[in-house]
Formats: sequence, structure tokens, C-alpha cells
Amino acid sequence: MNPTFSVRGESRVYIGPAGELLPGVLPEGRVVVVSDTEVDRLFRPLWASRDTVLIGTGEGGKTLQTVETIYRRFIELGVDRSTFVLAVGGGIVTDTAGFAASTYMRGLDFGFVSTTLLGQVDASVGGKNGVNVDGYKNMAGTFTQPQFVICDPVLLATLPDREFRAGLAEAVKAAVIADEELFARLEEATFEELRRNTDLLSDVISAAIRVKADIVERDEREGGERRKLNLGHTLAHAIEKSSDRMNHGEAVAVGTVLIARAAVRLGVLAAADCDRIAALLAKLGFVLESPVGMDRLLREVAKDKKNKDGELRIVLPTRIGDCDVRPFTPERFAELFV
Ligand code: GLY
Repeated sequence: MNPTFSVRGESRVYIGPAGELLPGVLPEGRVVVVSDTEVDRLFRPLWASRDTVLIGTGEGGKTLQTVETIYRRFIELGVDRSTFVLAVGGGIVTDTAGFAASTYMRGLDFGFVSTTLLGQVDASVGGKNGVNVDGYKNMAGTFTQPQFVICDPVLLATLPDREFRAGLAEAVKAAVIADEELFARLEEATFEELRRNTDLLSDVISAAIRVKADIVERDEREGGERRKLNLGHTLAHAIEKSSDRMNHGEAVAVGTVLIARAAVRLGVLAAADCDRIAALLAKLGFVLESPVGMDRLLREVAKDKKNKDGELRIVLPTRIGDCDVRPFTPERFAELFV
């Protein structure tokens, strides 16, 4: 059984039916599953009677407290260094369980079945695991590659439209930063076609993972190029911190359009390309207005604890399929929006 991608020779990514792929990738020994209550309700037959740790749903549960709950259950279940952890769920489950697995007893092997589009095109691939601290995204975490990631497009049939759309924002992001062809394919498709046509969806997932896998191959620990994957995310994180009206993907869509407009004002992106980005996101059904004012967002950006030496690393699209990462002071960044 050949993986669709290999990331750094450490992680195999498969796009296909989870039920058929899982028996071939799970190790012989003990496997403990981490999932959430909703995924358990929908997909329990995938892992049947294996010991299972369930966490709650929602970004609010991506915390150190949840990680501690997982550790405690692992201790109760007698999980040891020889146990394999299988996380089944969306980005919240895989980020949190990946962090718990990569730190429990100094690290267990783990793998993912990703059950959301956002997880499949972005969160589950690339080895970033982590949780939020005091609302700051991913402040505690590790870079540890899962042994495998299974992305089964058929599992996405039960996703609500809103969550499916959130994943499309990350696919558009991948297209804008590095894949003009994927962008054109998304321009040709309707939201309904993407929802219904599994072949089309598999192609989109595969192209978005290709973008990410290629970048992570060259820069696993975000010393440079991996920052490109944060297109639109500086403002998106500020939106998510200031308002609970948008989920991550919805905030990324707004952040991407705001930064594309800023790139036009800076003279690094053609207005026509910015219009294409905004038109594609609008066609996919995204609201492109921030739920909170720019002043509030810029205050959040300036406060962001992740700023390096007081500087932001901002991803600017330079054309469809290419981008540049540039340093900005928060003050200089704010000037892009006056
Ligand atoms: N989601 C961005 C990254 O994995 O680097």
C-alpha cells in the first residue's frame, strides 16, 4: 500500500478510505484511540472496541487542561511507551492528542485519521501539535510527525456546510501561496460540486497537501519558508481572539483578503489578482468583512506574544501561486490599513 505523500520520510499521508487503510498502517501492539464525542458518535466502527479517550468538541477544549485529562486517562488505562496512539477527528483532536502523545512518557508513536476538511488540507499534516494558552493560539506544542495521516474524503459527507467551507479557506490559502493551478480549479468549481464530487474533492485535498508537504520538507520547524503557510493568519488569529462569531477558516478567509488588499497598496500584488482572491472566497460563500473593527484587530496583533523581537513576519501574496514573507513592526503593519 503506497502512501500518497511522504513528509520528511517520517510521516506517510494517505488519501483514501479510512476503513480499508487503517488495518494496514496500525502497528501490531496495543493501540489507544483519542477522539471527540461527535466523531465517536459518527465513526466509532472505524476503531471498534479499542480503549478510547474522548474529549469535548470545540476550540475552547484545545487546552493544557484537556491534555492533562488525556494523560490521566492514559495512566488509568496503563498506556506505556509501547502503546500507539490513534487520534481520530478534526484539527482540535489531532493537535491536542498529537501534543499529548508526543509528550506523555517523553513521547509515544501516533497516527491520525483526519475527519474534517480543515484537518485534511492543513492541521493534521506537517507535524505541528499543540494547544492554546489563555486564548493565544498554539502557544504550547511540539513539532513531531505522526507516523501516518489518513485523509478520507468520504468521511467529510457528514460535515456541516459551515465546517466544510472553513476547510476550503485553507485550500485557497495553499493555492494562493504556491499553486496557481489549484486556484484555477477552485475558481471553476462551485461549493456544491466540491461538496458532492469526491474525485474533485480528492484532487483538491491532494494538491493542498502537496503544497504543505513540499514546504514542510524544506522547513519543518518554521525557521523560514513554513511561515508562508500562515498567509492571512496574523489577522485571522486577531479576529478569533476578539470575537467568537467566526471559526478559524472563516477568519482566515477575511485575513487573506485583508492582507491581499494591503499587498496591493504596497505595490507587491496586482489589483486583478487581489480581486480574483476575493471573488473566489466570496463565491465559496465566505463573508469577507471582519466582525470587529480594524483598530481592535491591530491592537490584538501588536499584543501577540508570538512576535519575534517585536517584529511580525507577514506573508504577502505577490501573485496567485507565490508569496513573500517580510518583517514588519506592529506600527508599520498598522500603516498598511490606514
Ligand atoms: N498551519 C500552518 C502550519 O502547519 O505550518
